[in-house]
Amino acid sequence: MNIVAFSGSLRKASYNSALLRAAKKLAPEGVNIEIVSIDGLPVFDQDLEASNFPVLAAELREKIKAADGVLLAVPEFNRTPSGPIKNFLDWSSRPESDPLSWDKKPVGILGASSGPRGASFAQYDVRRVLGYFDAKVMGQPEFYLGAAKEKFDENLELTDERTIASLKKFLATFMEFASQNQSH
Ligand SMILES: Cc1cc2nc3c(=O)[nH]c(=O)nc-3n(C[C@H](O)[C@H](O)[C@H](O)COP(=O)(O)O)c2cc1C
Repeated sequence: MNIVAFSGSLRKASYNSALLRAAKKLAPEGVNIEIVSIDGLPVFDQDLEASNFPVLAAELREKIKAADGVLLAVPEFNRTPSGPIKNFLDWSSRPESDPLSWDKKPVGILGASSGPRGASFAQYDVRRVLGYFDAKVMGQPEFYLGAAKEKFDENLELTDERTIASLKKFLATFMEFASQNQSH
């Protein structure tokens, strides 16, 4: 099973990116999680779309299409998804003339925040977008990693045992969900 994972944070010490690295390590046997950076996508602009569609945007679309499932780690800024993840979602829906890359795609959403709620508002906004894309978003279990600073060590390795256990459970359930929802 090939899963592609995107973090909505561009910063080096991102907890959301660290969470995906932990997920890659904790993935069940036979599952490969490829973490793909969205860094370098220009701000979405329909003129740019028409005149010079970014190579990276096209590559990311192909990654989504080819994967058996997608994991999204969603940071929350001001109770909404980070700009980079919204920008990525917008580019991934274009060009309009091509079949939608997310159509029936199994998706698992996670989020980490320094606050107590684990990016819960932002995760729900992303669910709304993916519903519009007709992706198949796993409903349960949800994954909210609050107080992220306390869950990682200084090398951004996930060390909190309860979080490790719930991430393993999330991943095992998601892989089952993805294998039951293959449309290609
Ligand atoms: C401008 C700004 C707004 C923020 N707003 C929220 C928020 O609404 N909810 C929340 O849980 N955390 C908020 N935070 C804290 C982020 O959760 C925290 O910076 C987190 O580490 C970002 O994700 P990252 O580590 O993957 O980069 C905010 C941070 C910044 C810089």
